[in-house]
Amino acid sequence: MSETLAIIGGTGLTQLPGLTISKAHDVQTPYGSPSAPILEGELDGYRVLFLARHGHPHRIPPHQVNYRANLWALQTLYATDVIAVTAVGGITRNMATGALVVPMQIIDYTHSRESTIFEGDLSTVTHVDFSYPYTESLRQLLVHSAKSANEAVINGGVYGATQGPRLETAAEIFRMEQDGCDIVGMTGMPEAVLARELKLNYAGLSLVVNPAAGKGEGVITIKQIEENLADGMERVKRILHVAVDQFYSQ
Ligand code: HPA
Repeated sequence: MSETLAIIGGTGLTQLPGLTISKAHDVQTPYGSPSAPILEGELDGYRVLFLARHGHPHRIPPHQVNYRANLWALQTLYATDVIAVTAVGGITRNMATGALVVPMQIIDYTHSRESTIFEGDLSTVTHVDFSYPYTESLRQLLVHSAKSANEAVINGGVYGATQGPRLETAAEIFRMEQDGCDIVGMTGMPEAVLARELKLNYAGLSLVVNPAAGKGEGVITIKQIEENLADGMERVKRILHVAVDQFYSQ
């Protein structure tokens, strides 16, 4: 089978409008069930798989997402490429609320998550290369798609993945900034490395929905996040439509 694009939707993107669903796959994996049935359908005439990372309705917190099952299930359905949509907090100055980012690097601060498929009763030990955690060609596809959709995106930046589900302290964000992080979210890892282990191309599209802790006025409210999500995800969807089109026409 030729290439198939999968989209993992995060907070604010539990459905993909325009997707004509032909099947909802209940995939069982060696790691259990994915977050939700994987929707197979057509978007603008092209075969696309869609998975709601937090379930549909949104009910699984970031630290309890079964990332291994999610990625395994997508691969079982012959996904070759995965676009991962995430909502994030903005740390550095360019990462203003509302900005869309196609990150280039990751720093992983998560812990106690099941973060590899290479464990258990193995005959060999595997260490995947993860120097460049995102697939450059898929990153570029997102950047070009945004341009065609007339949506500004920031090409690059470091995604700091935190454990959650609580938000960070201002001191933690200060430390993350010193480390080189530009944005902060709770789902970027181990999703990216599992994609790499499963040999899936993988790139992220992140929407900044709040200034990270200590970077804005006062505390972070869910109301503020939700308001920014609603508007931003409309722009994300416009980019995804173009990305699907460009992916299958390349
Ligand atoms: N921190 C971590 N994850 C997030 C944030 C944040 O500020 N905003 C949205 N997801």
